[in-house]
Amino acid sequence: MIAKLIYFIVLAVCVRGVHPVPSPVIVRDLDRRLFNPIAGLTGAVEKRLAELATKLADTQPTSTPTSIPDAVATLKSIFGPKPTGIITNGLKFLTSGLKVDGTDGVTINSPAPPDNINSFKNSNPEPPTPVFPAANGDAPFSLNEQQLRSAIFIPAAFQGMGMAPNPVILVPGTGALGGVNFVGNFAKVMALNQSIAQPVWLNIPGAMLDDVQTNAEYIAYAIKYMSSLTGAKVCVLGWSQGNLATQWVMKYWPTARNATKQLISISPDFHGTLIANIADLPIIDKIPLPPSILQQQSNSRFVRTLRAGGGDSAYVPTTTLYSSVFDEIVQPQAGTGASAFIKDARNVGVSNNEIQRVCPGTPAGEFGTHESLLFNGLSMAIAIDALSNGGPADLTRIDLSTVCQQLAHPALNVTDVNLTEGLIPLAGLNVLEYRPGVTKEPAIRSYAK
Ligand SMILES: *[C@@H]1O[C@H](CO)[C@@H](O)[C@H](O)[C@H]1NC(C)=O
Ligand SMILES: *[C@@H]1O[C@H](CO)[C@@H](O)[C@H](O)[C@H]1NC(C)=O
Ligand SMILES: *[C@@H]1O[C@H](CO)[C@@H](O)[C@H](O)[C@H]1NC(C)=O
Ligand SMILES: *[C@@H]1O[C@H](CO)[C@@H](O)[C@H](O)[C@H]1NC(C)=O
Repeated sequence: MIAKLIYFIVLAVCVRGVHPVPSPVIVRDLDRRLFNPIAGLTGAVEKRLAELATKLADTQPTSTPTSIPDAVATLKSIFGPKPTGIITNGLKFLTSGLKVDGTDGVTINSPAPPDNINSFKNSNPEPPTPVFPAANGDAPFSLNEQQLRSAIFIPAAFQGMGMAPNPVILVPGTGALGGVNFVGNFAKVMALNQSIAQPVWLNIPGAMLDDVQTNAEYIAYAIKYMSSLTGAKVCVLGWSQGNLATQWVMKYWPTARNATKQLISISPDFHGTLIANIADLPIIDKIPLPPSILQQQSNSRFVRTLRAGGGDSAYVPTTTLYSSVFDEIVQPQAGTGASAFIKDARNVGVSNNEIQRVCPGTPAGEFGTHESLLFNGLSMAIAIDALSNGGPADLTRIDLSTVCQQLAHPALNVTDVNLTEGLIPLAGLNVLEYRPGVTKEPAIRSYAK
């Protein structure tokens, strides 16, 4: 009897290992990626997470949009009475055919090969002037220059020194890499019309789920690097957390601020979000989550640190674009209390634009989700105005009677809309795949204390 017990104990230790090696659960997705259970959680919770990941990977659409109005009508129909979060919405979007086709290379467990638009292993040339280590007065980098530089994706069409008169860095949102974030919206429109701006984008390992302070280092470096490479000040255009992280850069890297022409913010969450749990994992409270998810709660230490001492005001000319009640991830998003609303204490020039107030009751100004502002004809026209004229945007230069009728920018089609909406289920999948999660947000770095 005792011998049998010892046998089972030894067997259990051998099977689990001294440092328990998580036994992989296969998610039946196209790329059959591995889903690693979270160490320390009970079996039931692990199982539930794996089930959710499988569901996000496997859900088949019951219908697919065939036109842009169709896709937007679908979004309206699945919008609930109160905002939920990434995973609940992700599942709804998938059922409605709003999906990134083939997830190879866009999830954190299946890195893209070199040269792919989502690669974070890019080989970029030495800049004409050194931009590393950080300049005097700037926050120090915790990452090395190789790590920072290889996250910058420079499309083949990009012309270097003096040849790219209006360089812009596209910064993705939570759960996304820059390629997939912008390929169906701004990157496509700029590729078709080079006189708007010349884009490069950031593919940050961890897809913006790591500590926002780390994400910010990639942005600070990219600004300095691109400015050196082109001999110009650079614009930054971000989606969602891409703006929160950029505002952190503007505050703590003064020389990067000095090299920035303007910031254009699509659905930013400068004040985090009141949705209690952005990931929206419907299981238990204390599940370990990616650090940036905890940092984006509206009362997080990160958000409070950023907003203190004038961090709730723009440092460079800034244009914000946001949708009031229909933003399913960031709330509140209405009026001057919007998380997206940025003040202008330094008089650098700010244009805050809630689409429902700019174009009330019109196709482009009535409804808009967190991600649909990336393709909405009105929000894109305002962003393009800022890019084309130096920031911030000026509504008097824009033909609102035309753009308010455009659900999507005229250069985009339903595939682009589909792809852009697919960012939400993709973020859900990346949140579930992220390891290791945390139950407390990361400490504020000493330079910001
Ligand atoms: C390209 O963009 C520029 C700058 O915004 C604009 O003036 C021009 O009309 C655009 N061209 C086309 C063909 O859309
Ligand atoms: C700011 O940029 C200008 C060039 O645009 C440069 O001459 C100056 O040294 C910079 N100052 C700082 C603090 O980076
Ligand atoms: C949208 O994505 C779904 C799922 O991948 C796909 O089946 C559908 O064909 C796409 N629709 C369009 C119009 O591209
Ligand atoms: C939309 O445009 C892309 C090119 O950017 C093209 O590959 C795709 O087939 C187009 N989709 C439709 C439905 O026309």
